Amino acid sequence: MRKINVFDTTLRDGEQAPGVNFNFDEKMQIAYQLERLGVDIIEAGFPASSNGSFESVKNIADSIKGSSVTGLSRTVFKDIDTAWEALKGGVEPRLHIFIGTSPIHMEHKLRMTPEQVIENSVEAVKYAKTRFPHVQWSAEDACRSDLDFLVKIIEKVIDAGAEVINLPDTVGYVTQDEIRHMFRYIKENVPNSDQAVLSTHCHDDLGMAAANSLAALEAGAGQVEGTINGIGERAGNASLEEIAVALKIRNDYYKAETGLTLNEIKRTSTMISKLSGMTVPSNKAVVGDNAFAHESGIHQDGVLKNSSTYEIITPDLVGVNANRMVLGKLSGLHAFKNKIEALGYQASEEELKKVFKEFKTLADKKSEITDEDIMALMSEEKAGESVSYYEVETLQVNYGTTNIPTATVTLKNPEGNTIQEAATGSGSVEAVYQTIERMIGGHADLKDYRIQSITGGRDALAEVNVLMEYEGVEVSGRGTANDVLEASARAYINAINRALNYQSGRDLQAEKVNV
Ligand code: KIV
Ligand code: ZN
Repeated sequence: MRKINVFDTTLRDGEQAPGVNFNFDEKMQIAYQLERLGVDIIEAGFPASSNGSFESVKNIADSIKGSSVTGLSRTVFKDIDTAWEALKGGVEPRLHIFIGTSPIHMEHKLRMTPEQVIENSVEAVKYAKTRFPHVQWSAEDACRSDLDFLVKIIEKVIDAGAEVINLPDTVGYVTQDEIRHMFRYIKENVPNSDQAVLSTHCHDDLGMAAANSLAALEAGAGQVEGTINGIGERAGNASLEEIAVALKIRNDYYKAETGLTLNEIKRTSTMISKLSGMTVPSNKAVVGDNAFAHESGIHQDGVLKNSSTYEIITPDLVGVNANRMVLGKLSGLHAFKNKIEALGYQASEEELKKVFKEFKTLADKKSEITDEDIMALMSEEKAGESVSYYEVETLQVNYGTTNIPTATVTLKNPEGNTIQEAATGSGSVEAVYQTIERMIGGHADLKDYRIQSITGGRDALAEVNVLMEYEGVEVSGRGTANDVLEASARAYINAINRALNYQSGRDLQAEKVNV
């Protein structure tokens, strides 16, 4: 079996998904879970893009020991120096340099001639090699680039010291035959291609990212890049979980495998979904809620007789239903701590005590506490900011089909005082949001509001995700509670706290700079 390296870019390309904005704690949490999943390389961010990105890449590089941590860089010496400062504490410091190689990118974006792009790339790779033991070079928009130009530039960057050559389908344009042809052409025509690993990085604009990545692997790529749940710019990136499971289930065909611990997939997917606020569609391959559900009577009958009749992936393989140790209101702190760790979360003593208290409150109201409930509580804790400017203390809403909905909200303000206000709205949620807006001052433009239940059942927790622009900063927020209005208020306050942290420069993570 050929070993395929897995390069995860959930924290860089994944964070470029509209509305996704991980804070520092969330990034650390995701990096730890990716390490546990067994990804070979974690792209933690773009260090030169902002102080926030620099800090999180540095902390991830300093903390993660089981995966190599990388950061993105333009072909600019200043970017490379900054990336080195962020990454030098990692186990295998690695730099990812990119530049556009298609005529469209060179002419219209870079305003550079092909010769300048070659010179620039070679200089940047040589410079990076004076610091980094490992350098990857990416030909942005490779799939719309001239093949002979690619052959020429790749030979030169390999000579300059690049050991991984990534050929992205930046705009999700290519077909399987075309990508196979491109990889074979490069392998056959670049004289020193055996001195580098070829890598594939596909986007999903035409819904072909996973299929195209697999086609590239068939044609000789030794590294695959993507994100968990396929989150990313526009229609997203290739879903790594789909590719890894396809290689496993069809190893008779691909004769290649990844080093991923496949039964960590479901947990990783749930964590990313919670922390990004991007719900996984129920029919999504491998990780969707319906991926293992059989509805038709004929199918159910077949599966009961022999699961292989209609089930090519067993739920156990990807960790569905794993670790279902049920907790109840009598469970102690020790069992709770074990559960949090088993679910992949790192919690400080202070966080643990706080979430344990919330768990106890929940256990009094809800008959069965599931893993999903605990992940929701933990994710809300991680969504909290370094400074909580406002906190929801009490909430009362008066609603009747013939009344004007009225909300009364009590908040703790930044000075630590309790403040109260009331306002009306055309619905209960609007009444709550009007009231809060009056109390915090400034205008919040709500761009998206989504609500879902964490589990089935009438006593399920409600989870609300909001996206808003507050005083010129676009931020997301998340809130969880038994009651939908309380969850709505918490999500709103979480977003406001994120915006205020950003404005005061305390949580630089709120800065989001896309490539
Ligand atoms: O899609 C792309 O081309 C990228 C590069 C920066 C590698 O994400
Ligand atoms: Zn990309």
